[in-house]
Amino acid sequence: MFADFIAPLTPEQFFSDHWPDTPYAGPPTALPGRLLSAVPELGSAEEVLRSFGGPVSLIQRNGPHARVPRGSDALPMYRAGFTCYMRHAEREFAGLTGLIDEAALRLGLPPARMSCEIFCSTGTSGVPLHSDFDVNFALLLSGSKRWRLAPNTSIVNQTTMCFARDRKQADERQLGYAHAPFPERMPDDAREVTMEAGGLLFLPRGWWHETYSTGACMQLNLVVKGPHWARVFSGALEERLLEAADWREFAYGVSAADGPGHDAAVDRLADLITRFQKSLAGEDPRTLAAELVTSFRATDPRPAGG
Ligand SMILES: [Fe+2]
Repeated sequence: MFADFIAPLTPEQFFSDHWPDTPYAGPPTALPGRLLSAVPELGSAEEVLRSFGGPVSLIQRNGPHARVPRGSDALPMYRAGFTCYMRHAEREFAGLTGLIDEAALRLGLPPARMSCEIFCSTGTSGVPLHSDFDVNFALLLSGSKRWRLAPNTSIVNQTTMCFARDRKQADERQLGYAHAPFPERMPDDAREVTMEAGGLLFLPRGWWHETYSTGACMQLNLVVKGPHWARVFSGALEERLLEAADWREFAYGVSAADGPGHDAAVDRLADLITRFQKSLAGEDPRTLAAELVTSFRATDPRPAGG
């Protein structure tokens, strides 16, 4: 199903020319038949909303945001012009887990770090300038959507969504990771693409973008949310450390105020680090890396589909 999703590109073309850093805007094509037969609800936004049992975010461009518990609650707001945003669509539409599992296999990433999201709107909608920390394969199911895209020259490998300079950021740490101020608006030379139904936009991590659409519009996003190397290393390292009773000890004093309790906690952790450093002495980095990657694979949460 993943090959259908990125068609007419072949997987070989996709991996040699686009993955993971180069955008791709595909032509309108017949919607992947296997996708629609796996999830017939995707044929109609109203049907998606009626069937969606999870929470739905309601969005207006530069306007109010709200959230309702179920898709059926969102129907009146959809008809009133709000964009409806549904996360983890694979939990509601089991037919999407096949897409995730196959994409995960092709990409060499854990299925549990991927998900499907659905956006639907009527009337005028879109999102203002922002960049996403995740990788998006955005398949337009119906309607037409105009995108403006620009590479991100302010921050590399952000870990949450980032907004224009004058907006409050979702996570202020991103400003610390950045090496240049965020833009106030899209640059004049931003790339502009108009996607039509059946077209796939591959949007790599971090690219600045804004969107505009009019009329009924529905999009299915396959998103990749990591893991980053820090997660792989720290997760696998934790598994290794937990093999030793000393590392399983509760961190008594870790939150103590400055004073003897705090000093004792620092001494205890310093002792553990010293012994860990000694245990690593002479260890081949490649051998350690192979062990950690294998451990991560075995302990990271399992697939959406199995
Ligand atoms: Fe986005």
